[in-house]
Amino acid sequence: MEIDRRAFIASLGGTAAVSLMDSEAKADSLEHWMEEQLDEQVAANQEAKFPTVAEIEAQIETRNYRRGAGSLFVSGRGNVKKLEPMPKNPSLQDFFRLRFAPANHVLQSATRALKTGMSEEVILACLLHDCVLNLIKPDHGWWGAQLFEPYIPEKSTFAIRYHQTLRFYPDSDAGYEYPDQYFRIFGEDYKPPTHIEATYKMLKNHKWYMEPRLVTVNDLYAFDPKAVVSIDPFQDIIGRHFKSPKEGLGNDNSPSAHMWRTLANPDQPL
Ligand SMILES: [Fe+2]
Ligand SMILES: [Fe+2]
Repeated sequence: MEIDRRAFIASLGGTAAVSLMDSEAKADSLEHWMEEQLDEQVAANQEAKFPTVAEIEAQIETRNYRRGAGSLFVSGRGNVKKLEPMPKNPSLQDFFRLRFAPANHVLQSATRALKTGMSEEVILACLLHDCVLNLIKPDHGWWGAQLFEPYIPEKSTFAIRYHQTLRFYPDSDAGYEYPDQYFRIFGEDYKPPTHIEATYKMLKNHKWYMEPRLVTVNDLYAFDPKAVVSIDPFQDIIGRHFKSPKEGLGNDNSPSAHMWRTLANPDQPL
């Protein structure tokens, strides 16, 4: 548990009061204070009320953007910033550095996949699985798969395309539970649309079911702000499995080159 020193000292009556206590009394007070804090946190979590689908819908007209806009296109706060231009023949690593950064979520997912000894196709899928959210959010599994399909192994594409579907369906044997985050962002009474239901039915009996399932298992929502992650541990896997075009992503005339160009130049008006 994180100790808020100031709050703790204040709870004892300030530094002057603390200086009069012997070390045993201080230790007892700290233990007591931590127990109370933990109880409060547990109670707060239990009381956490998730919005309904109708409540989320009512928020639409309170915004000047749509929730599906890619992160590069909306600023969380204030105006958007000028982007550093991409190099002439941009690589995947350049996009990570200049357009996907800080990319903590995907780097953390891939780090977990690497540490738990998953296949290189799954590690690569974890590294790339949500990058397309910078471009667009709805149906990001399909968009993401399309963005990377010309360059990566078929299994990784399959994993990226379908992780979006499997996130809605728990599989405790595989170690995946429905995330609280989804109650929060979709509403507690949300039912996935029919195309997601149909895709789930197809996946359940698919020989590659575990590829997207493992992406969901590594898909960490409990973001650890202290974790230091980098793309460096994945350079070899990228080198082996990502067919980097020599002209650069976007200049290569692949079926998704236009998507890379849009990511490179999100300020283009047309
Ligand atoms: Fe995702
Ligand atoms: Fe994710």
